[in-house]
Amino acid sequence: MSHTSCRLAVLLSGAGSTFLNLHDHIQRGDLDAEIAVVVSSRTDALGLQRAKERGLPCHALGRKAFSRGGQFDVSAYSHALAELIAPYAPRLVVLAGFMTQLGAPLLDRYDTMNVHPALLPDFGGEGCYGHHVHEAVLASGRAVSGATVHFVDAQYDHGPIVLQESVPVLPDDTADTLAARVQAAERRIYPAAVALYAAGRLLREGGGVRILGQVDK
Ligand code: GAR
Repeated sequence: MSHTSCRLAVLLSGAGSTFLNLHDHIQRGDLDAEIAVVVSSRTDALGLQRAKERGLPCHALGRKAFSRGGQFDVSAYSHALAELIAPYAPRLVVLAGFMTQLGAPLLDRYDTMNVHPALLPDFGGEGCYGHHVHEAVLASGRAVSGATVHFVDAQYDHGPIVLQESVPVLPDDTADTLAARVQAAERRIYPAAVALYAAGRLLREGGGVRILGQVDK
């Protein structure tokens, strides 16, 4: 019987380091998945350029055409996005620094995952991205931060948590040094979470996620 790997639609808005990490894992044979399409919410995103350089099918779907009077139409954008990726038949939508809220038409059709640079449910939500997150963590005086992979629902940085990895916040940390430590955790848990999904080992139940076949310690 021929083997079909898990087809991914990767959505990004920025530099694309999250996308590169996933693609590197796939190319090394460490992650049994394939990137079927990359979509950027910005035409000038470095991540889009990088995906083109790697020979992947790429599209840009800007937010401008979906904004009226300063109001962004989440539903219309999500519908257009779902239509755009449908021909690539993805099994999972993977957010890789995608800075746009998504809604029903896309989220109803596709399981969607996100990685966030903090231990959700703390330090998430609109405006809580990139360095803002790490600055907020440092200002709070917490001794621990980390990274979270979760399934996406209609709220920003919200939904059933798949994996988390904590890292220490050190006394002399700056947002940069903390970001680097958190990013290293992201680089480990995002491919791991996608691999669990691809292997059919994630069961969503009661607002949470159960990992099938996990040995309790
Ligand atoms: C990632 O580090 C991710 O944690 C963060 O955006 C970065 C994207 O970097 N995502 C969020 O803050 C989601 N709320 P990249 O553009 O280099 O992949």
